Amino acid sequence: MNILCRKLGLEYPMLQGGMGNVSHPNLTAAISEAGGLGTLGAGTMTPAELEEKIIGVKEKTDKAFCMNIPITVQPYFEEIVDLVFKHKIPVVSLSAGNPVPLIPKFQEKGIKVICVVASVKQAIKVDRAGADVIVGEGYEAAGINSNFETTTLTLIPQIVNVVEAPVVAAGGIGDGRGLLAMLSLGASGVQMGTRFIATKEALVHDNYKQLITDAGDTDTVIVGRSVGRVRRLLNTEYANKLIEAELQGVTLEEFNEKTNEDCHIAGAIEGKLAKGHVNGGQVAGLIEDIPSVSDLLEDMMKQATAQNEAIMNNFVVRK
Ligand SMILES: Cc1cc2nc3c(=O)[nH]c(=O)nc-3n(C[C@H](O)[C@H](O)[C@H](O)COP(=O)(O)O)c2cc1C
Repeated sequence: MNILCRKLGLEYPMLQGGMGNVSHPNLTAAISEAGGLGTLGAGTMTPAELEEKIIGVKEKTDKAFCMNIPITVQPYFEEIVDLVFKHKIPVVSLSAGNPVPLIPKFQEKGIKVICVVASVKQAIKVDRAGADVIVGEGYEAAGINSNFETTTLTLIPQIVNVVEAPVVAAGGIGDGRGLLAMLSLGASGVQMGTRFIATKEALVHDNYKQLITDAGDTDTVIVGRSVGRVRRLLNTEYANKLIEAELQGVTLEEFNEKTNEDCHIAGAIEGKLAKGHVNGGQVAGLIEDIPSVSDLLEDMMKQATAQNEAIMNNFVVRK
């Protein structure tokens, strides 16, 4: 069995990435039920809002799931940690901040810790601090990106070369070929965001799903570079308003206001594409259908296996 599956008790080496306040128990539970690791993102939710969602996941599945806590973004950090303990959530993923001092706090209670990083230096730091799993996220990914702008293809093998913990690749994976490619680079699994949004169980607005299935290779944009807050969005009227605001010299504070979780909900859940943003990764160009989560995971595994066999057969040396 693959080391990641063994460590996290999964059937398939596929994780859902945190999805901020857009997170919904329906998708989280469906991914865990289908054999992957579903994740509930804490985003900026209040403890009461989040607890309702935790209970919602537990009502739908007995399988393990993960809680993503964006460290510097979540305003009720300590209370959220208490919720993780109270509900015995077996895995946490820590992003957007320094996870090092937090790792033992969770591990002491038997909770596995996934750390999301975007550079080799960060990966070494969390590996030395005992992270159970390291997610390396490249610049192709949806949502808040690292200012380093490292790509998944180059980042993953460099991290694999220097760490002990199993590495999971995030950013740009949408089918079995992407999964196989990342396993070939030494990753033990993949984490996806955009691909999971375009599934039957994702309770986001149809406008959002359609933007993804309609998207071509150049239909995402980077916003926030001018204020040091790099973020990849699907190209919409709202994204263009953000770009315009940057050209007009928007401050970091104003930019954060325009991209807060209320705007995220307006775009992603209410489908108001002129009023809020929708996160989307470059892999959107590859996504054309809206399968169920279980079909998606099974098809990805089958495609990865078939592609691997096809490659190996072509390389058989015939004497
Ligand atoms: C709607 C949405 C919200 C996201 N919010 C978060 C978040 O709160 N925390 C986080 O660490 N990553 C967040 N991400 C990034 C994902 O967890 C994941 O790592 C990324 O989407 C992977 O790249 P991909 O979109 O190419 O699959 C978000 C992605 C999406 C699509």
